[in-house]
Amino acid sequence: MNLFDSFQIRDITFRNRIAVSPMCEYSSEDGFANDWHLVHLGARAVGGAGTVLSEAIAVVSEGRISPSDLGIWKDAHIENLARVVRFLRQHGAVAGTQLAHAGFKASTAVPWRAQGGSVVSIADGGWRPIYSSTAKGFTPESIQPEALTLEGIAGIVHAFTEGARRSLEAGFELVEIHAAHGYLIHQFLSPLVNTRTDQYGGSFENRTRILREIIAAVRKVWPERLPLWLRISASDWTEGGWTIEDSIALARQVKPLGVDLIDSSSGGIVPKANIPLGPGYQTRFAERIRREAGILTGAVGMITAPEQAQHIIATGQADIVLLARELLRDPNWPLRAAHALKQQTAWPKQYERARF
Ligand SMILES: Cc1cc2nc3c(=O)[nH]c(=O)nc-3n(C[C@H](O)[C@H](O)[C@H](O)COP(=O)(O)O)c2cc1C
Repeated sequence: MNLFDSFQIRDITFRNRIAVSPMCEYSSEDGFANDWHLVHLGARAVGGAGTVLSEAIAVVSEGRISPSDLGIWKDAHIENLARVVRFLRQHGAVAGTQLAHAGFKASTAVPWRAQGGSVVSIADGGWRPIYSSTAKGFTPESIQPEALTLEGIAGIVHAFTEGARRSLEAGFELVEIHAAHGYLIHQFLSPLVNTRTDQYGGSFENRTRILREIIAAVRKVWPERLPLWLRISASDWTEGGWTIEDSIALARQVKPLGVDLIDSSSGGIVPKANIPLGPGYQTRFAERIRREAGILTGAVGMITAPEQAQHIIATGQADIVLLARELLRDPNWPLRAAHALKQQTAWPKQYERARF
């Protein structure tokens, strides 16, 4: 298997195994996509990525990380997203979006403001209350969330479903559910945060329940012919937290519910964890989940060199690679990688004269 081999999930053909990993751009107003999203995501489709995933897109307004996140909580958002999607598809990429809710990480400042990541006051466009599985904030300085009631949980499941329906209307061919990085769904999965005593807390079955309900509900509106991916934090990297074994068990549970691929990231549920950062440091998770749960996986995290990406695919550690920062440095990375690896890829006709 090669990096530039095409492949199929359900009825969708991906031209290669390179995906743009979701990246918040903090450039929206009231959740609306705009020219920034068109140019930013569009450039990466032109640059040859097989899949272009949007940033985390909030399924409810209070589920945004910052006031400037993309959103999909109202039908009015569809039109601007559809414009972006049309462009991505015209340029051969599979257009995907990442449905998300930030939970206790909501209402924080965009990174380049003076106090990036800190709480945003209501006067500055922030909001209260925010919600989590449990009434305990990410840090003592964070906004303290309210624990979702059973009615609130049903509302979250419905919001993800509505997000999927709107994604379909916008023309997306791929939806990824964001259950990683310490955001709301992860706040249910991880025993480090979830201390509920009802049917959504305690046992593994209970902590994974909201995610299984979301997947089942999303699959009811997201057509059989289209792929559904799930991003998880495969490890909390913390004693007593979610483990790779939990991830493998989860992958086995969600495959029959209609999840096609596990995008295997890690961390984010606690402010300080002992993460052994280095090239491909999370790839081992993709490999184990793929092998032990028998499901397609995506490897992500410090994948920067064409040979490294090719090696991951050729040795069957993952079915796709997702790149984030390297594709910020160079949106044409896939075109360059194909040249470096002596593999075939189509170039945009407008760029033919620059072909290596
Ligand atoms: C600017 C920026 C924004 C990000 N936003 C998201 C996001 O919206 N959703 C998500 O799942 N991960 C997000 N991430 C994490 C990336 O998708 C990726 O998992 C991480 O950066 C590791 O990959 P890399 O080493 O190729 O950058 C973001 C990363 C960056 C750098």
